Amino acid sequence: MTLPDDSAVVCSTSTVDQTRLLAGAVAGLVDDGDLLVLVGDLGAGKTAFTQGFAAALGVDAAVTSPTFTLANRYEGRLVVNHLDVYRLSDLAEARDLAIPELLEQGVTLIEWGERILPALPNDRLDVRITFGDGDDDRLIELRSVGDRWCGLLEELRDVLGPWVGPQRVFG
Ligand SMILES: Nc1ncnc2c1ncn2[C@@H]1O[C@H](COP(=O)(O)OP(=O)(O)OP(=O)(O)O)[C@@H](O)[C@H]1O
Ligand SMILES: [Mg+2]
Repeated sequence: MTLPDDSAVVCSTSTVDQTRLLAGAVAGLVDDGDLLVLVGDLGAGKTAFTQGFAAALGVDAAVTSPTFTLANRYEGRLVVNHLDVYRLSDLAEARDLAIPELLEQGVTLIEWGERILPALPNDRLDVRITFGDGDDDRLIELRSVGDRWCGLLEELRDVLGPWVGPQRVFG
């Protein structure tokens, strides 16, 4: 087992709405140019996280999985770029997505982004979602990489307070 390091905040949720609220709390800290890499198995909750995140930024449109389109763009208080690179076959295709240019135009969330790390800048928040004991239980580990997100770590810990550590399964 790998113990979380100082740059990580470990949370848990027991409903999809809690995951959306948690994501909304993170969204309160972001600005144009920020990157979040969403890691987790199929059905873990990466798209659910993005839904809560976008809603908190005032996106009215329904956020759906961009698995086939690869990248969706939503307008809220900030532009939200939502990518899913599950189907990319190689890194060259990732480079075709022109991610550095996308990053300049809003905040960007990339599902399965760990597969294309060499094509990504080093400043990012890694959000790893894993399944817990119950069907709706999830562990959500957020890890700051690079100066930008490490500088936000204390604020992250503050806003994530309600979800840090194990949650009650009921309620
Ligand atoms: N605590 C929870 N947090 C997030 N999702 C949850 C939770 N409990 C149940 N769910 C359910 O798990 C599913 C998560 O689906 P979602 O599409 O967000 O996964 P994903 O990680 O994006 O998968 P994929 O890799 O296929 O894109 C949804 O049906 C959601 O309602
Ligand atoms: Mg998804």
